[in-house]
Amino acid sequence: MEGKQLMIHGFSKKSRDEKLNMIANGCADGNKAAAVLKSFHHQDNATQKLLEEFSENTITNFPLPYNICPNMLINGKNYMVPMVIEESSVVAAAAHSAKYWFSRGGFTTEVVATEKIGQVHFLWKDDKALLTVRFPELKERLVKECFEITENMVKRGGGILDIQLRDLSAQEPGLMQLYATFDTVDSMGANFINSCLEQFAATFRQWHAAQKEFKEDGLEVIMCILSNYTPNCLVRCHVETSLDRMDNILDGMSGAEFARRFRLGVRVAELDPHRATTHNKGIMNGVDAVVLATGNDFRAVEACSHTYASRQGRYTSLSHVRIEDNLFRFEVELPFALGVVGGLTSLHPLVKLSLELLGHPSATELMSIAAAAGLANNFSAVKNLVTVGIQQGHMKMHLLNILKQLNIPDNHKEEVILYFKDKVVSVSAVRNLAERWKLIATS
Ligand code: MEV
Repeated sequence: MEGKQLMIHGFSKKSRDEKLNMIANGCADGNKAAAVLKSFHHQDNATQKLLEEFSENTITNFPLPYNICPNMLINGKNYMVPMVIEESSVVAAAAHSAKYWFSRGGFTTEVVATEKIGQVHFLWKDDKALLTVRFPELKERLVKECFEITENMVKRGGGILDIQLRDLSAQEPGLMQLYATFDTVDSMGANFINSCLEQFAATFRQWHAAQKEFKEDGLEVIMCILSNYTPNCLVRCHVETSLDRMDNILDGMSGAEFARRFRLGVRVAELDPHRATTHNKGIMNGVDAVVLATGNDFRAVEACSHTYASRQGRYTSLSHVRIEDNLFRFEVELPFALGVVGGLTSLHPLVKLSLELLGHPSATELMSIAAAAGLANNFSAVKNLVTVGIQQGHMKMHLLNILKQLNIPDNHKEEVILYFKDKVVSVSAVRNLAERWKLIATS
């Protein structure tokens, strides 16, 4: 095949509809594909144009369900939390958990710190001891020459917190870094941090070139980039109640018995990376849905959370249980950089609405909301796993999806749901029943 593939030139220069038709024509039924793609264009041209401007080579929109989790009581404030997610059981699980904890004090959070990080990676082929001695002078100049970029952030209460010199030359000859920390207040701060870092690099080069003691080619800047690992941008969230208030979570099960099994469920995730990955995925179900609904970068949040879960050298659970003095406490600690200004937050109509629904939260308040959604989902998942099993909870949604997939008429859905109340759901089981009951045409 090598050499036979045709490279496409100038695709990005074509109009949206030229691109759309070109792609549709590559499908089995070009007209049908074009019609499907066009049917997802927004009816309002200005909104459609706005959406297209977020990215490159956009030919249509890809809608995901926009859902609400009511009754999220966080630090005494009741939120209707917007969650954008396609997985059928996630919002149901979050809503169930939110309701359960609503009457038990809700979720309590604490934002421990909001420090962001950026690095200038460079090779130092010069006198390292001299650089260390002269670093305080360089640092002062790095901060000073960045002022045009930092001025507004400083007015809002943020800016550069510190710059350190770090030495990685034991692992790679000459490799060092400027390790800078920032407070970006209510913005996620990616652009701000990257701009500061590139200015640091420019200042560093000029400073180095002007020093007689250093060699002309003693500094080689490799790259400047923020770090998405922000362990000091951290939120803690917990729920807590007495064991007797957890009686009958499953008919006849005592709160103490439930808590014992729940703790073991979480303990497995603390000990076994296979389980920890799935367990943490359950936390991220809730977190990501809030992150997406508020126009934040879910890839950054995912990357950061999983690195944090490995910070002791072994991947482990992000949440933990304590049972002490008749008290059940379930907590999660999550690092992530979220913003409520900049990026999509003032552009995407639904992101703006999400922030309005949440009462225009600060970035730290949004961190609390996302963490609570994560803990809510985690609670529901582990609760189901250690009691009735995961399938019972999932099956109703799964069955609804199958009914849709098999085109079962609405007026027959209830009887099928009733039939499967105590039976194992699968596509073939539903199809067989529907054929027996003549609810769908057999081929
Ligand atoms: C499914 O999206 C998430 C769960 O697998 C999480 C878990 O197992 O804890 C249910």
